[in-house]
Amino acid sequence: MKKLFAVLGNPIGHSMSPVMHNDLFSLYNMNAVYLPFQVKEEELKEAVNGLRALGAVGFNVTVPHKSTIMPFLDEIDELAASIGAVNTVVNQNGKLIGYNTDGLGFLKGLDEYVTKIEDHKILVIGAGGAARAIYFTLAKENPVQIDIANRTVEKAVELITECPYSITSRALTLEEAGNYLGEYDLIIQTTMIGMEPNTEEQPISLENINKQALVCDIIYNPLETSILRDAKERGAAVQNGINMFVYQGALAFEIWTGRLPDIQRMKENVLRQLGGK
Ligand code: ATR
Repeated sequence: MKKLFAVLGNPIGHSMSPVMHNDLFSLYNMNAVYLPFQVKEEELKEAVNGLRALGAVGFNVTVPHKSTIMPFLDEIDELAASIGAVNTVVNQNGKLIGYNTDGLGFLKGLDEYVTKIEDHKILVIGAGGAARAIYFTLAKENPVQIDIANRTVEKAVELITECPYSITSRALTLEEAGNYLGEYDLIIQTTMIGMEPNTEEQPISLENINKQALVCDIIYNPLETSILRDAKERGAAVQNGINMFVYQGALAFEIWTGRLPDIQRMKENVLRQLGGK
């Protein structure tokens, strides 16, 4: 029988996950299908129970359901529970277990650029859902320091207070972060600033950047945001959001099938969908 996988979100039309996972199923000769479902907030519980009843092997959860889905699952992995959001669910004999591969996906994607994360002083720009997943996941790796800069500083303070892992952190305004920028080895942009169609916008000035730093943006549309272009021009290394997206999917695939898939093929697939190379 064909195995069912899915992604629940609203909207969901632009999700690149179905093409990415269906391609892996064909690569590995799996009799499986991955389908997108647009699900309204008030129908999420029915949708989750429906997938359980249909015997779906696993599914992803995206905006706006990552937190609201949690009460409808049977078990939540420790990291996902601390982040307060789930993006991957596996069905183990009718028991739905929730994971969060967003932060881990970012961390894995970083492996290609960073060898010892514990030696790094890190700046996270933004304090929303994505920042939370990345901050908590990185904090667990015990780096020297992770500061959080946000337009609304109170939200950065909240993230730091709620982090379950021991880490030295400061909550900063975007302007303060700009002033201290030379201190950081790794700068991670997690807001939607610079995303299509406002591609000229940038959250902070890079005037004081350390040229040895790596600047990551979680945005992949455009592939090169204004902050990445600026960082590159100043001699810093850069990474766009493709790695995080691909690795969060690869880790979900591994949770469902026990196999870490072909990352390079996934990247090429996603780039093709974005109209890149
Ligand atoms: P996500 O789940 O994608 O992280 P989110 O939870 O809505 O989205 O968080 C959006 C982040 O982008 C927040 O850090 C937000 O700053 P505030 O907490 O001050 O709202 C930041 N953000 C969005 N638009 C911004 C803008 N125009 N200028 C500065 N920060 C912005």
